[in-house]
Amino acid sequence: MQATHEDYMALAINNAKMGWGLTKTNPMVGAVLVKDEKVIATGFHQYFGGPHAEADLFSKTEDTEGATLYVTMEPCFHTNKKTPPCTPLVIEKKIAKLVVGMRDPNPETTGKGLEQIKAAGIEVIEGVLEKEVQGLNPAFTINMNEQRSFVHLKIAQTQDQTLVIPERQWITGDEVRRDVHWMRAQCQAIMVGGETFRTDSPELTVRGIHLLENEHFEQPRRLVLSRTLKELEGFEAVQVNDWNQFLKDLYKEGIGSLYIEAGPNLAKELIENKVYDYLSVMEAPFKAEGIRLDTELPELSEIRKYSNGDRWLICSQA
Ligand SMILES: NC(=O)c1ccc[n+]([C@@H]2O[C@H](COP(=O)([O-])OP(=O)(O)OC[C@H]3O[C@@H](n4cnc5c(N)ncnc54)[C@H](OP(=O)(O)O)[C@@H]3O)[C@@H](O)[C@H]2O)c1
Ligand SMILES: [Zn+2]
Repeated sequence: MQATHEDYMALAINNAKMGWGLTKTNPMVGAVLVKDEKVIATGFHQYFGGPHAEADLFSKTEDTEGATLYVTMEPCFHTNKKTPPCTPLVIEKKIAKLVVGMRDPNPETTGKGLEQIKAAGIEVIEGVLEKEVQGLNPAFTINMNEQRSFVHLKIAQTQDQTLVIPERQWITGDEVRRDVHWMRAQCQAIMVGGETFRTDSPELTVRGIHLLENEHFEQPRRLVLSRTLKELEGFEAVQVNDWNQFLKDLYKEGIGSLYIEAGPNLAKELIENKVYDYLSVMEAPFKAEGIRLDTELPELSEIRKYSNGDRWLICSQA
């Protein structure tokens, strides 16, 4: 059976994910080149400041004329950045067809790369697996449109919304904990509240995943939200009066994505004030006495299951 545009785009998405935790404020992007129904080359944006997916792909093959290029995101157009734009490169390679998942969300450049590519006589197909491709880089879209940091809020709870169980440090199991380190790795800053900092002494680092072996990986900044703590060795104490302004300031400092692990009081404040773009509720399969989250969870958009019965409940605002 002949492979479809969706099949090749799915492959491009898988390639994009190889840049997880390494592209920082840049989007993860993947690319696949197909000719005569064969995959000739693949590429992805490997790390912040490194070659884009298209350049990575074209560095691996000369056999591009008449081929179809699949890229998760529209080739970039603007020149005020670390690497040359990909639009002229795509044109120069004489491909016959370009298939993209989504447009570049940057309001200043969106659609411009595609326009120029079409003008060069290359057929363009847009919107293939658009939802999946959008889901790859939700932070990038928020960064571009709102010029602020994206917020990933995470809580761990029991089935009856207990967030603090006396004398017990962990609520969920090993698989969830490993995923949490992957979540942390994708953000440029990790935050906890002052109370959590005092009771748990968390390290707020990425640990135990193979990403640490990559020379381009950098640990996120470690922020402690507090009105009382001031000087902290190795951590930055921050106060917030206006979340929107705070997130804009963080973005200016190069933090595209802020990951917050909140206790019951902070989680309630953030959920009720809608200070999150993506909420991950890691839920253990039991009930327990303790301190509960005293607010209702927003409507869930997705549920994933772990082998030990833990569940990952996702609520996405975007
Ligand atoms: N189940 C989970 O997912 C989870 C996650 C994290 C923590 N926990 C547990 O939750 C408990 C603590 O929860 P919590 O919600 O009371 O504490 P928290 O998560 O530490 O958040 C509350 C603290 O954040 C600071 N804060 C809140 N808003 C602020 C603002 N606008 N500006 C500056 N500082 C601000 C204050 O710190 P100061 O008091 O220092 O001023 C406040 O005490 C601990 O037992 C911890 O083990 C559970
Ligand atoms: Zn590019």
